[in-house]
Formats: sequence, structure tokens, C-alpha cells
Amino acid sequence: MPSDRGRNTRPGLRVLVVGFAGHQGKEYLPIVRESADIVGGVDPAPAASSLADEWGFPHYDVLSEAFEQVDFDAAVVTVPHSEHFPICVELLAHGRHVIKEKPFAVTEQEARQLIQLAGRADRSVFTLLQRNFHPVFRFARENLARIGEPYWFSYDYHFNLAHPTTGWRASREQAMGGVLLDMGYHLIDVLSGMFPAPEPPRVHSAFGHQYQEMRDRRLEDLVSLMCSYPSTRLAGSLRISRHNHEKIEHLCVLGAEGALNVAPGIATLHSIGGLPLERCTWEGPKIDVLRSMFAHHLGHLDDRQYRQDHFRCQLTAVRTIDGIYRDRLREQDRLAGRCA
Ligand SMILES: NC(=O)c1ccc[n+]([C@@H]2O[C@H](COP(=O)([O-])OP(=O)(O)OC[C@H]3O[C@@H](n4cnc5c(N)ncnc54)[C@H](O)[C@@H]3O)[C@@H](O)[C@H]2O)c1
Repeated sequence: MPSDRGRNTRPGLRVLVVGFAGHQGKEYLPIVRESADIVGGVDPAPAASSLADEWGFPHYDVLSEAFEQVDFDAAVVTVPHSEHFPICVELLAHGRHVIKEKPFAVTEQEARQLIQLAGRADRSVFTLLQRNFHPVFRFARENLARIGEPYWFSYDYHFNLAHPTTGWRASREQAMGGVLLDMGYHLIDVLSGMFPAPEPPRVHSAFGHQYQEMRDRRLEDLVSLMCSYPSTRLAGSLRISRHNHEKIEHLCVLGAEGALNVAPGIATLHSIGGLPLERCTWEGPKIDVLRSMFAHHLGHLDDRQYRQDHFRCQLTAVRTIDGIYRDRLREQDRLAGRCA
């Protein structure tokens, strides 16, 4: 995916921020303001009204109120997972572009519905995934061909949170999935960008739980996946967790002629045997990556080809994750003797 820091966004683009008083919403406010006019914000949180005053835009408790009171071209959506689909449907029904947090959708059915609605409205629904705009991941994508045909990947992504999950992420109804959906979406998206395939991979999964209450709510704290891609000879594994002993992200890809290693801030291309051939390091601030991501999406709202490519990639990520959860449910039903 090309970088386009500085690409001109539509002048005077009017943006509504939905869920702006939360963690992710607040982080994005200064960046959105750099490229667009924030004409209003929707968030029912008690602190939202004073935050909107501070930023100088009108505050609404619900989206329907915003439609009555203010005109806007696009909405930036940063809400709990259960709210994504109804909010996106409402925005598209009113002919607005959507720039949203991950996941694009939780189920394949909802992803297909969104794509259909977006097509009918001729509007974009872009998912914010910062690794696509990070220089070391870009180096990895651009140099992947140099390792020859890839046959194996190994991807670890762990947090070291010392307490049980809280807030909406601890609610089955609101989170709609555990670490696979929350943290794993990023990794599945990176892999589907690097290894585009006509079908999602075949996956065997194992789920783990640090805390009994998360097990009771069927929200995994850890997931381990073994993936294979039927149309190529590629296979690989992922491990994702919230309560590891250390925070870490590391992707390694092995190919017929070399290897690629990616970790935060550094990507290295190796020969077979491990000799480092070329390295990309990046120690810039995270806000630069976020700026480039917003500039790119805001600059492509009316680009139908880019929109279709984005939908294809997101549909693959959603199908993969939805398929894993469905398989787990089937297996649980089988073990409980409810299946024939
Ligand atoms: N890309 C990343 O690294 C990253 C990091 C954190 C969160 N996220 C994503 O961002 C989204 C939000 O997560 P968060 O951690 O900021 O959550 P959060 O709880 O901090 O914020 C969510 C906000 O949405 C508001 N909200 C809830 N329902 C709403 C509705 N119907 N309309 C408008 N506002 C509503 C809440 O009041 C809250 O202020 C999730 O999709 C999450 O996966 C992404």
C-alpha cells in the first residue's frame, strides 16, 4: 500500500467523530483535525460533552441527533465492537463515507452486507490498520519477493497486562470475541496483505484463558493458530495473548532463498543461514504513522478501485476470523453432544 503523506484531502472535508471520548477516539482527534473539519462528535460517555467543548465542536449523545443537526461527508468511528455494524449501516444509509477502527466486521455476513450497502451508496468504508502504513512493514512487503517462494511464517504478538480484562472487552455481547478478534485482526490483516490468496487459509486453533471469568464468557485470553494455504505451499503459525510475561511483536517469514524478520522498529532481510542482507529501522513517533494512515484514507474516499481492493482484503480477514470462531462453536457443540 503506497504512502501518501501530504496527499491532498478534499478541501473542507466535514467529519463527524463517533466514539471520540474513548481511548482510540481521543488519540485520533488531533490527527483528524489536521486534515479535515471536525463538525461534530457523538459519544454517550459522561466526559464527552466537556471534551467536545474543549475541542470546539458540538456534542451529540446519539447518531440520529447528529443527522438532524449537522451536515458531514465522512465519519470516523471508534466504538466498542458491538456498535460497529449498526453505526456503519446508519452512516451508509445516509450516504456518508466511513473511516473506522478494526474489525471491518465481526461476521462474514455483516462484512458482505456492508460491502453491498457501500456499493449501493457509492461510499467507502475504510478500516484503520496502522501496520499497513508503518515503514518497517512496508519494507517487509516490498522486499518479500527477495526471499523467494515463502513456505513458512511465525507471528507472535503479546501484551503483558497484569490484570484481568475490563470494560467492554470483558463483555461477550460488546466485545464479540477475545484476543483473536481484538489483537489478532491486525495480524490476520498483515498476513492477508503479504500473502494474498483466493481463499482464507485452513486453520487449526487452540484457545487459552488466564482468567476463569473470561473462560466462562468464551472470550479467549490467548490463541494459537496453525494456518495452511491450499493454493500455495505456504503454512505458518500465530500466537496472540494479553497476559504474557513480556510485551512483544515478531514476524518471521522463511522463503526458498532467504528470510524476513519484522519487529517494532526494525525489519531485516536475511540470506539462508541468517546473514543480514538489508535492514530497515524506524524510530519515528507513532503519530507519524497515524497521520500517514489518515491522509491516505481521507485522500481515497472517492477512489472506487482502492475501495474494492480494501473490501477484498478486509473480507478475507473477517472470513478467516469468523471461520475460526464458527469452528470452535461447532467443536464445543460436538463435545457437548448437541451435534449429530
Ligand atoms: N488500532 C489499535 O491499535 C486499537 C487500539 C485500541 C482500540 N482499537 C479499536 O478502537 C475501537 C474502540 O476501542 P477503545 O479502546 O477506544 O474503546 P473505549 O471504550 O476507550 O472507547 C469507546 C468509546 O465509544 C463510545 N461509544 C459506545 N457506544 C457508542 C455509540 N453507540 N455511539 C457513539 N459512541 C459510543 C464510548 O462511550 C467510548 O467513549 C475498537 O474497535 C477497538 O478494537 C484499536
